Amino acid sequence: MSTLPTSPTDDAVARTADLYERVRHVVPAVEWAAFAEDVEAILALKQQKDAVVLAHNYQTPEIFHCVSDIVGDSLALAREAQHVDAEVIVLAGVHFMAETAKLLNPAKRVLVPDLRAGCSLAESITAADVRGLRAQHPGVPVVTYVNTSAEVKAESDICCTSGNAVAVIESLGTDRVIMIPDEFLARNVAAQTGVEVITWPGRCEVHERFTPGDVRQLRAEHPEALVLAHPECSPEVVAEAHGSGSTAQMLDLVQVRRPPQVALITECSMSDNVAAQHPDIDFVRPCNICPHMRRSTLGTIRRALETGTHEVTVPGDVAERARRAVERMLAL
Ligand code: 13P
Ligand code: SF4
Repeated sequence: MSTLPTSPTDDAVARTADLYERVRHVVPAVEWAAFAEDVEAILALKQQKDAVVLAHNYQTPEIFHCVSDIVGDSLALAREAQHVDAEVIVLAGVHFMAETAKLLNPAKRVLVPDLRAGCSLAESITAADVRGLRAQHPGVPVVTYVNTSAEVKAESDICCTSGNAVAVIESLGTDRVIMIPDEFLARNVAAQTGVEVITWPGRCEVHERFTPGDVRQLRAEHPEALVLAHPECSPEVVAEAHGSGSTAQMLDLVQVRRPPQVALITECSMSDNVAAQHPDIDFVRPCNICPHMRRSTLGTIRRALETGTHEVTVPGDVAERARRAVERMLAL
């Protein structure tokens, strides 16, 4: 009896069967067939080039669970970037994350898979805007969300993420702070401290689309669900949820409470990545996609490793001042 010939794709699918197990709950087998060859190529290229892949929680499951070495929220990626020994860091995320990694580990070659991976928050403010705010509010410290360019960080006293914003603001010991550029995050944080917060009208284009009515309807339709909202959502949306936190804090809450049903009011891949690890939990998905996060694909990560593009650099004078603001945050 003759056996049927197999294709390179079939062979790659067979060789990556153990990796597929990690995502089978959220990635259909037919899609894995399209991923398997790139997954194998990326794993081999990482070894050849002495590279590691850092992936944000909003990366798709085949990236997050199958080719990444370090995963997490913005704060964890910044912390971990400092300690990378490998020569090359591929940042599967957006441009400001790659810049932060470069600031914190300047001797490494930091690559972003697609230079168009921006962020509506980072786009909303310039270094000149920060200088203008300082002139308007002399002596008031500037707390800058990491979702900004290095030039904006360089004008700041300290950075923060959604995971540590309250602690950062309270560490300053002042009655007032300027918190840029996310107006919703700033208002959500202000509600948790006695510090007066001066805001800037920046918005995350993904989280601003959720409405309080969306959350009310979701809770009416799924009364058992634990509903968690990212603090880049409006305070009115956060008020309708059971809780709020950075992507890592949402994951922690789900893992500690282990509810039967969960709704994460945030980017879509977040739920996919948690669901892949917790097939016993039912995820309701009122999610929005971040087009910038989707610029990283297995294809663009593979090309970054093959060609060494796109390298992210920060000019020395800006880097020095921006690094100070990020390191002051990490030292807390
Ligand atoms: P965190 O992972 O720090 O919560 O950030 C969310 C985000 O929108 C990053 O762009
Ligand atoms: Fe920026 Fe929002 Fe996308 Fe995060 S989800 S990268 S904050 S646009």
